Amino acid sequence: MKKVITYGTYDLLHQGHINLLRRAKELGDYLIVGVTSDSFDRGRGKLNVRNNVLERVEAVKATGYADEVIIEDYLGQKIDDIQKYDVDIFAIGSDWKGKFDYLNEYCKVVYLPRTEGISSTMLRAESTTIVKVGIIGCGRVANRFPKEASVVSGVEVVAAYDTNLDAANLLSSRNEKVVAYPDLKEFYDAIDAVYIATPHLSHYYYIKQALEAGKHVLCETPMVLIGDEAKEVFALAESKGLILMEANKTAHCPAFNHLMVMIKSGVIGEVVDIDASLSQLLDKNGREFDKSQGGGALFEQGSYPLLPIFKLCGIDYENLDLYSRMDNGIDIHTKGVFRFKNAVCSFKVGLGVKTEGNLVISGTKGYAYVPAPWWLTDYFEFRYEDQNENKKFFYKWDGYGLRYEIQEFISSIINHRFSNARLRRRESVQMARVMQQFIEKKNFMEI
Ligand code: CTP
Repeated sequence: MKKVITYGTYDLLHQGHINLLRRAKELGDYLIVGVTSDSFDRGRGKLNVRNNVLERVEAVKATGYADEVIIEDYLGQKIDDIQKYDVDIFAIGSDWKGKFDYLNEYCKVVYLPRTEGISSTMLRAESTTIVKVGIIGCGRVANRFPKEASVVSGVEVVAAYDTNLDAANLLSSRNEKVVAYPDLKEFYDAIDAVYIATPHLSHYYYIKQALEAGKHVLCETPMVLIGDEAKEVFALAESKGLILMEANKTAHCPAFNHLMVMIKSGVIGEVVDIDASLSQLLDKNGREFDKSQGGGALFEQGSYPLLPIFKLCGIDYENLDLYSRMDNGIDIHTKGVFRFKNAVCSFKVGLGVKTEGNLVISGTKGYAYVPAPWWLTDYFEFRYEDQNENKKFFYKWDGYGLRYEIQEFISSIINHRFSNARLRRRESVQMARVMQQFIEKKNFMEI
């Protein structure tokens, strides 16, 4: 019996897939089809797949060509499968020509003609409303945005605005579809949603302005620095039927999310202690060191370590003490200690002090260890008294990671979802309250 194997995502199953499966089946007597798992697709940058793995498997089965359907879940699996199933022929569409020649060592490799004029990508694009996004504030992070948005379907970055027109022009010159607008009204007229990446102190102003103009808002973190301002802008957004989301990239990262849900489901028992640190020594002439532009370690970095603390221990802490080393009116290092009813958590952030940037979450049964840079989560471990029980988890962090929050933002707009489980509005509000406590110097000590 001649066995053939082929692989694919098979999203929104179309005639191209059906032709390919028929041709593959004709090569032998028995066809095995490997359908990619959801996490494998995400890991290799396919963020926009519409059908989940069960739906895709069902669709492949319904073609009647597959004798067996398996799930492809890891890089390198093809070699394992070919040996395990005693495969004679590996078949794949001609768009992959040459890419799988390395499998010739294990079986015959055949590139089959691809059906012209159709693909899942095309079908996804046809059935999606495109959200036009404009960028306000064209600095370092904003310049990463268009490229990151280009891998998310349903979004197009079309406009840029900056009080310094040169910055907007530069961003526009680097991105074909982005037009730089000197005039804010024309800028707003060209878009459905805005990404705010201006210095922190202007966020509140621009969020309100954009919402008043009827635009959805994705605002860089920290969204605002005063708790009541955060509540106010969320309420304003909802009253206008608009989405407002804080752009905390860690919150939307798949690996970080997996870590959170596993801990919530009890893998390390009850969480009793969290220690989260993050430091980045930056150029002292930069905005981050300028008090008048909202510089300082807590504003710059604080929302990242606050995230696992609030996600796992909640927002109802009994006390927060802040200790900072100040320099020219800004904190170059801040340590915070939270007391919760049943837990104690601490965090450290530094712009002018370097420290180990890891995340340790201690529980009654074991602990989670995430090495630096844990905020770009691609790896974590669960460790136990009996080391044989330890488990390591590896993921892929793609690009700058903004794509995950962009995808969530677009999906919230399309589905009219005001609050998001990955970063609740109340958690954003509480982060702003922490910033406010620092501004008001409550429970604060300079060291
Ligand atoms: N295929 C084909 N003709 C098409 C589209 C896909 O022969 N018009 C083949 C691919 O070469 C592959 C299999 O179908 O062997 C599964 O491909 P998959 O990546 O799932 O389909 P695409 O439509 O190419 O998906 P995407 O646009 O997401 O890359």
